[in-house]
Amino acid sequence: MKDKLQQIIDKAESELNSITTKPELLNAKSRIIGKKSELNSLMKNIKDVAPEDRREFGQLINEAKDYLQQLIDSRTQIIDELIYNEQVASSRIDLTMPGRRTVQGGLHPLTQIWREVEDTFLSMGFEIADGFDVEDEFHNFDALNTPKDHPSRNLADTFYVEDNILLRTQTSTVQIRTMENYQPPIRIIAPGRCYRNDKMDASHSPVFHQVEALVVDENISFADLKDTLNIFVQTMFGQNIKSRIRPHFFPFTEPSAEIDISCVSCGGSGCRICKNSGWLEMGGAGMVDPAVLESVGIDSEKYTGYAFGLGIDRITMLKYNIPDMRILFENDLRFLKQYR
Ligand code: DAH
Repeated sequence: MKDKLQQIIDKAESELNSITTKPELLNAKSRIIGKKSELNSLMKNIKDVAPEDRREFGQLINEAKDYLQQLIDSRTQIIDELIYNEQVASSRIDLTMPGRRTVQGGLHPLTQIWREVEDTFLSMGFEIADGFDVEDEFHNFDALNTPKDHPSRNLADTFYVEDNILLRTQTSTVQIRTMENYQPPIRIIAPGRCYRNDKMDASHSPVFHQVEALVVDENISFADLKDTLNIFVQTMFGQNIKSRIRPHFFPFTEPSAEIDISCVSCGGSGCRICKNSGWLEMGGAGMVDPAVLESVGIDSEKYTGYAFGLGIDRITMLKYNIPDMRILFENDLRFLKQYR
């Protein structure tokens, strides 16, 4: 019996010594101490052993089993080390290799100005309102008092998705959406994308960006509009920049005006950028037409309001001295990197 155990141990030792992989080791383990192992069948024979010898018999087998388990454990350790060393060897780090530079991204100049515009109006007590790029004719035209036969409704000017549904041509849609949902006092801006069926050139793009402003309350006057515009323009472009308004027409404002600012390049004396006029066009403005207020159920006897819409692309081009609008949409990294 002792011989038999020694035989088992000898065999296990030599078997284990030649093993170098985990799967082999698992197989050997079940062969050596598993249910179907020689050792286990010896254990089953205990019933044939004389009662007085059984104790010693059991003890011997258990000792052998413990020893075999130790052998397996130490082999496991050796194999783990082997595997680890192999991994280290195959992934050795070369500390002399030159580093790889990760390229840091940055915000698109339009996004930077968009945020600066938002911050400026937020600091003046405005809130930011949101609308939809895909709109219906009601919010883009009807509610903004635009006649059914107005040329801007034309297919040549507006992208229609289907009957009645279009890509908004102006952020003025958000005026309507806001007034439908909130009662005065209202003081919001709405920056966003707009779409028009325009050919792309140095100052036009079928996709462009506007920021709309709407203030409705009691006793709001043209002076408030002028004042707000002045503060905005001076915050964005500097204290020396003036704004002016010229009479104009928009269906949704009465009276309406166009907004100019003194040329940010020459300061007003006349240059190539302002085409020698000393002024640059920035957008449209006016007092909200009472018909628009009534179309969304706001009492136009009690409340008045002003609104304006400015081009964010235009502001960006002026602030960063970008001569051609197309550059803003080409995503040429050589250009974008300058504005990181
Ligand atoms: N929506 C006009 C446009 O795209 C700009 C504009 C003019 C907005 C007058 C206004 C406004 O809010 O009062 O040309």
